[in-house]
Amino acid sequence: MASIERVSVIGAGTMGAGIAQVFAHAGFAVKLIDVKHELVTKGIAGISASLDRLVKKEVITADQKKETVGRIRPDVGLDGTSGSDLVIEAINENEALKTSVLKQTAASAGEQAILASNTSSISITTLGAAIPRPERFIGMHFMNPVPVMKLVEVIRGLETDDATTRTTMELCGKLGKTAVEVNDYPGFVSNRILMPMINEAVYCLMEGVATKEAIDEVMKLGMAHPMGPLTLADLIGLDVCLNIMEVLHRDLGDSKYRPCPLLKKMVASGRLGRKSGRGFYDYAK
Ligand code: CAA
Repeated sequence: MASIERVSVIGAGTMGAGIAQVFAHAGFAVKLIDVKHELVTKGIAGISASLDRLVKKEVITADQKKETVGRIRPDVGLDGTSGSDLVIEAINENEALKTSVLKQTAASAGEQAILASNTSSISITTLGAAIPRPERFIGMHFMNPVPVMKLVEVIRGLETDDATTRTTMELCGKLGKTAVEVNDYPGFVSNRILMPMINEAVYCLMEGVATKEAIDEVMKLGMAHPMGPLTLADLIGLDVCLNIMEVLHRDLGDSKYRPCPLLKKMVASGRLGRKSGRGFYDYAK
């Protein structure tokens, strides 16, 4: 299989921008694509701020920051994926939208390209079935914040072939990440384990087992988690957490995955975590 040099990332939100950053930092030519110029500009501003932290800590120089940003070309529309060796889709967790974007991308990117999705919960097999070459389609599940977290969960759909998997795993190494291969089941491994823990923390809060601070403190100090589950839920987004619990509940059909009513209520009220300014905790905007 040809080596990967030109990479397109579709979706310039937190995850897409983070993915573009790590590829550019590793020397790849990256196109960052979204539906509007303003969205790509916002994504690149986020990348610049993230790189500034690294400059301040003297992990990279100001020149290296400039070179990294210089490797990212902003673009609008899916035609921009033409000629890419790898296209990573990192748009909203909406199956119909992802399917539509992947179909258009498969047509414009060309037969040689590997297509990947950063989905956190949608079946790679199902998404792959909607495009012409499912054997060249794979899950690349990056973790938030992408520049910091070492893991890429690499998800094989039922049709993903060995060559695509091998190329993707090797590529993650070139990004300085550790790839872990998993098969395509609801929530993969990461969210199959993480989300029920977060959901259980919300049950503890709802049932008055302890305060939110106490719940987080127990998991931080007792289990050496870098942040407590309720703080982490606020970082991930409560709507994202609820959505993943619903996928686990529906697709595994086991009542142990039922989303906590308090989580549902908070999402219904618009308390989505950091991004909305309020979740389990308040965030100054
Ligand atoms: N860009 C660049 N660097 C960043 C950064 C960013 N966006 N965010 C944090 N950092 C760096 C900081 O500069 C700092 O670097 P040094 O260690 O060199 O000083 C380091 O990361 C730690 O950051 P902070 O000191 O600001 O804060 P912290 O020590 O509290 O760590 C954290 C922050 C890395 C987010 C840590 O709390 C953590 O690891 N939390 C858990 C995150 C997690 O579980 N992520 C997975 C979520 S699940 C997911 O993403 C998948 C899904 O499908 C839902």
